Amino acid sequence: MKFNLQVIDLSAALNHSIETNQSYADSYSVEIFADSIEPNVKISADPARLDQLMANLLSNAIKFSKEGDKVQIDLTTKTGRAIVAVTDHGRGIPQKDKLRIFERFQQVDSSDKRERGGTGLGLSIAKAIAEAHQAELTVESVLGKGSTFYISFPLIVGS
Ligand SMILES: Nc1ncnc2c1ncn2[C@@H]1O[C@H](COP(=O)(O)OP(=O)(O)OP(=O)(O)O)[C@@H](O)[C@H]1O
Ligand SMILES: [Mg+2]
Repeated sequence: MKFNLQVIDLSAALNHSIETNQSYADSYSVEIFADSIEPNVKISADPARLDQLMANLLSNAIKFSKEGDKVQIDLTTKTGRAIVAVTDHGRGIPQKDKLRIFERFQQVDSSDKRERGGTGLGLSIAKAIAEAHQAELTVESVLGKGSTFYISFPLIVGS
């Protein structure tokens, strides 16, 4: 994967990614909430790769939600990091699968491919993109209640 890093406004980039995935959310009758995105957060990123990373997290959050559910995107800053959170209220991820899903072709359920499409590559690509940005990609999840995926980027020093 090639990366073309530049200073970008992460807040604006997130709003753009949400717009791009809006029709996919509509097709699942899922509402995306983006009312807690801190403005003017600057990081070093490849805009196309960042969009791909967000699309992977958003598409998962949407397709594992139930009709009428909300997906929430947050952006906060804390001690030199910009933290993006993508939260859904879907089925959640079993504890034993929380690390495995970041590997290639790993899906929690053998029916995931059949029922929701996809090949189990999205999160492995997301992880590779995060790593190229010195960002950490992690998940917290409660089975039956939902999941939050976090990406923690280094803030540009002095910003
Ligand atoms: N938000 C989520 N809620 C519940 N399970 C999830 C969520 N995100 C990922 N998973 C689980 O992790 C698996 C791997 O996710 P990943 O994005 O890598 O693959 P995929 O979505 O199945 O296929 P692809 O991304 O290639 O279209 C999913 O199949 C699903 O079992
Ligand atoms: Mg996926």
